[in-house]
Amino acid sequence: MNIPIFELERVQSIYENTVKYNLTESGFHPFTLKELLSETQLETIQNMVLGYGQTNGLIPTRQAIAALYPNCNEDNVMVCNGTSEANFIACHTLLEKGDEVVMMVPNYMQIWGIVQEMGCTPKAFHLLESDNWQPDLAELKKQVTNKTKMIVICNPNNPTGYTLSKEEMQEIINIADSVGAWIYSDEVYRGAELDGVEIDSFVGLYDRVLVNGGLSKAYALPGLRVGWLTGPKQLIDDAWSYHDYTSITAGILSNKITEWVLQPEMRKRILTRNRNMLNQNLKYTLEWVQSHGDLFHFIPPKAGGMAFMRYHLEMNSTELSDWLRINKSVFILAGDCYGMDNYFRLGIGAEKDYLLAGYKLVDEGLQTLKEMIVA
Ligand SMILES: Cc1ncc(COP(=O)(O)O)c(C=O)c1O
Repeated sequence: MNIPIFELERVQSIYENTVKYNLTESGFHPFTLKELLSETQLETIQNMVLGYGQTNGLIPTRQAIAALYPNCNEDNVMVCNGTSEANFIACHTLLEKGDEVVMMVPNYMQIWGIVQEMGCTPKAFHLLESDNWQPDLAELKKQVTNKTKMIVICNPNNPTGYTLSKEEMQEIINIADSVGAWIYSDEVYRGAELDGVEIDSFVGLYDRVLVNGGLSKAYALPGLRVGWLTGPKQLIDDAWSYHDYTSITAGILSNKITEWVLQPEMRKRILTRNRNMLNQNLKYTLEWVQSHGDLFHFIPPKAGGMAFMRYHLEMNSTELSDWLRINKSVFILAGDCYGMDNYFRLGIGAEKDYLLAGYKLVDEGLQTLKEMIVA
């Protein structure tokens, strides 16, 4: 096998259903169809013919997605099975063996693994904790060369929740333009900003831009498995060729529901529910962090469904996560999954009572661990 194990996904898949409290989720508590849809819409779903539909996405669905971006129409969009398929197809469409890719780190590490599998070279530029997770753009400039085919951004960022300023976006564009590189921006968390002000997409800011989006995070609908790619028509056409080999098409029911979800009224209802949840849970999380004195160092996210923090305990992050899971049946994501020991990630898009019950178990575990480590 020629592809590295995607630790972050694999470790969650193995353990998330074995614990009482899973705090590794990276999105919001998901909706049911009944909560979301009207009687008429539910009936429409029941009566839909389960054909393939249109393999690059139903036209009204692509139109609804295109409306989220400046100067785009359905030809600029392809619907995929989750944002993860969009990432896979994007890499295969844009990259060839030997290319260099410079990627924002920390990040959802899927693209890093795909780049390695394709015989390309991944290089990192970092978000700096010492700068409230601002990107080190001097490092990006240094890492970019004439061999750089793609600069990979995650905005809003998984796991820090950092969002780029307009000036930072422009500087990234300038750096990409200096070598003719593409910008690939993972924007699956767009819409989950804590202040309710949606950040700009990279679409429309530079010619060589491809972005993803999807319903798994900001929209709390991961089970629909809907993601998409938005970019120049020719590139989207090329990406479609790869899609024919990966999954042919996203499901027709999911396509239909996506069209409804993205209509302004329903979209607003979903994003508002999630934002309220996030703001409330962040408040409890900050109180929880404070209750532990200087055990944690936490820079609150500006967007997204998670809290990423450093801890001051002499214990490796995977060991800490394993210990809490085995002894307390609460699961937190080890910083090791991001190559960052002494950090962990908590999902703060859960329902409040669930989150607080999980924190209580982490508290009990930490108390025992501190006594064990001191003794
Ligand atoms: C930044 C980022 N991109 C992509 C994905 C994949 O999401 P999907 O469930 O839409 O495939 C995730 C999932 O955690 C993610 O965090």
